[in-house]
Parts: sequence; C-alpha cells; structure tokens
Amino acid sequence: MSEKLRLLVLFGGRSGEHEVSLMSARSVLAALKPEKYDIIPVGITKQGRWLTGPNALEAFLAGQTDDLLPVTLLPDPSRRGLWLLEDEGGMRPYAPVDVVFPVLHGTFGEDGTLQGLLELADVAYVGAGVVGSAVGMDKGIFKDVMRAHGIPLAEYAVFTRREIETDLDDVIARCEAIAPYPLFVKPANLGSSVGITKARDRETLRSALHLAAQYDRRIVVERGLDAREIEVAVLGNEQPQASVPGEIVPGGEFYSYEAKYQDASSQLLIPAPLTPEQTETVRALAIKVYRAVDGAGMARVDFLLDKTSGEFYINEVNTLPGFTQISMYPKLWEASGLAYSDLMDRLIDLALERKAERDRTRWER
Ligand SMILES: Nc1ncnc2c1ncn2[C@@H]1O[C@H](COP(=O)(O)OP(=O)(O)O)[C@@H](O)[C@H]1O
Ligand SMILES: [Mg+2]
Repeated sequence: MSEKLRLLVLFGGRSGEHEVSLMSARSVLAALKPEKYDIIPVGITKQGRWLTGPNALEAFLAGQTDDLLPVTLLPDPSRRGLWLLEDEGGMRPYAPVDVVFPVLHGTFGEDGTLQGLLELADVAYVGAGVVGSAVGMDKGIFKDVMRAHGIPLAEYAVFTRREIETDLDDVIARCEAIAPYPLFVKPANLGSSVGITKARDRETLRSALHLAAQYDRRIVVERGLDAREIEVAVLGNEQPQASVPGEIVPGGEFYSYEAKYQDASSQLLIPAPLTPEQTETVRALAIKVYRAVDGAGMARVDFLLDKTSGEFYINEVNTLPGFTQISMYPKLWEASGLAYSDLMDRLIDLALERKAERDRTRWER
C-alpha cells in the first residue's frame, strides 16, 4: 500500500476575504478523504502569522487561536516541510509536506505572492502558478491579456491613484470617453466586489474613483453592460476541461459584497439556461481564457452575456474561487458529474502533475 499524502491546507490569510476563506476551508477539510491524506491544517491570521494544531480551523472560526503553534515554510529547499517556531527564537522541523492546498482568496493568497514562496520552497501546490495567479488577480493586466488574445471584453481604461488625486478632471474626461454611463469603477487587485461602484453620472463617478483609489494604486473603469452573469469552472493543466455553465442572478443592482455574502436574494442557476450553441461558445471561450493566463489546476471563468448584442464578454477569472459546498465552482463540477470529494483528489493530482512537469525544466545553462 502506498503511504498517505501529507497535505498542508492553508486558510484565513491577510486579505479582506479572510472569513470567506474560513468558510471555504470548512468544506474542503470535511471533504478530503481521510484514507488518502494526512492533513495539516494551518490558519494564517489577519496579521500574517501561520498557526497550526489539530483543530486549527475550529480555533480560527471561534477566534481563539492562543493555543495554536506558530509554524512556517522556508524558501530554502534544503529545509523542507513545515517548521515550528520556538519561543526561544529557534526553529525545528514540525511536519513533512507533500502538497500545499491554499484555500485563500484575494491578496497574499490568490495573487501569486504565496505561489512565489511555494515555488521557492520547491513544494507541489494546488492551483495556478505565479503568473497565472497574478494576471488573474489584476483586473487591468488581465484585460490587456484578453485584448491581446482577441477575447471580447467591455471597453476599459486603467488609471493610477496619483492621477485621480492630482488631475481628477482629466481622469473624468477620459472615463467619459470610454462609454456612456453607467461605468463600473474597480480597484485593480481586489475581490468580493469590495470598492466597486456602478457609477450612473459624473457625481457618482467622482466619489467612485476616490473610493476605489483607497483600495489600490491602480483603478479600472469600464463600460457597464446590461448583462447576464455566466460562469464556467475549468479544471486541468495542459488539457483543461470546462464544466457546464452556471448563472448568477444577483438580488440587487449588481453582484455586490452584500449580494454575495449577506443576503440570500441572489440565485445560482445550474446549468445556466442557455441554448446549446451559447453553452458551447462560452465553454470554449472559458478554455481560451484559461490558456491565455497560463491557468493550472483550476479557475472559475466569469462572463457577462450582453442582453443587447447577445455576445459573451469576459469579466474576470478567479484562480482560487469560493469553495464552500454551495459555491459555484464545486457545484458546477457536481452538475458535470464530479463529486466534491473527487474534485479534491483531482486538484491534488493536478498539483503533483504540475510539480513533476516543472521538475523537468532545466535551470542551468
Ligand atoms: N462591466 C460590467 N457591466 C455590468 N456589470 C458588471 C461589470 N463589471 C462588474 N459588474 C458587476 O459587478 C460584480 C463584481 O465585479 P467583478 O469584476 O466580478 O469583481 P470581483 O472580483 O469583486 O468579483 C459582477 O459580478 C457584476 O455583477
Ligand atoms: Mg466577480
């Protein structure tokens, strides 16, 4: 019999999506097959401390982390696995690690920074690599890449915080040249709709730009579409596969933070009510997007189906999508015939496959 895989599951994190991550991790930890994995749960506090213990998730959920042990991963591949940080300032090996599953959303988890550490540590991990994660996270760069690949998207422009602070009138004039109102204003690197405004006129655009500039150095402004929201789950490395599409019907004006997490008014339709042609078009587009950002493991690819033109426009990719039992990504796979716990196995296999592929790369001249 082969030995169990030692799986480090990371959750929490420094981003505004800390709590969302705990919810995702609860489902992931419950679904991992105990006969296949030795699980090491590690929570990351909002301050960035890594803490472990057999009941680390429960401790994080209860906000009582005092009894957990401080640990870390090192960027030095000759010092593998998880290390325990001792009170006296020393360090000793705590647990070997075969695969890392970052169940972290947003900054410092989904944006390539953590993936950089995992690359340096030379350990297999679930999901996209450094570039795929970073491009998926940055809405401005992502749109540039989509445009370069000829994937349809709403007209947009990117502004800096400095421009907004020093020459707001010029920024507003350039925004109004993008498209007629409404315009969507978004911080480039954030998720969960935080800092996003649908601006209907110059007055709201002004305050929307100031709000978004609090959350990021770079701000994306784009044409507001009258659209349906269609999402596709993609899974795989070199031969990615697309799930059946799903549809979000937001309860409010758009799919805001409140609509996502605080009220029950939004609906998920799985599969999305689309014609067979539309279904095939959007699934093929999702794969094209995934390849364009060098996706690996998984991503949820989100589209806006313009009600006027009937065209699909790419909105964004999420390389670490929400992962609760009722989240779109796992539900789309369930509807496509892959159960939640089998999806976990598949993601972990893909992590090992990607690591083996990377190990074939020649680093020296
Ligand atoms: N160009 C747009 N036209 C119409 N609605 C949009 C547009 N961009 C975003 N939205 C709405 O805002 C929501 C959040 O925007 P999104 O870019 O997906 O940010 P996040 O990364 O926070 O999810 C979308 O789910 C959709 O409801
Ligand atoms: Mg979104």
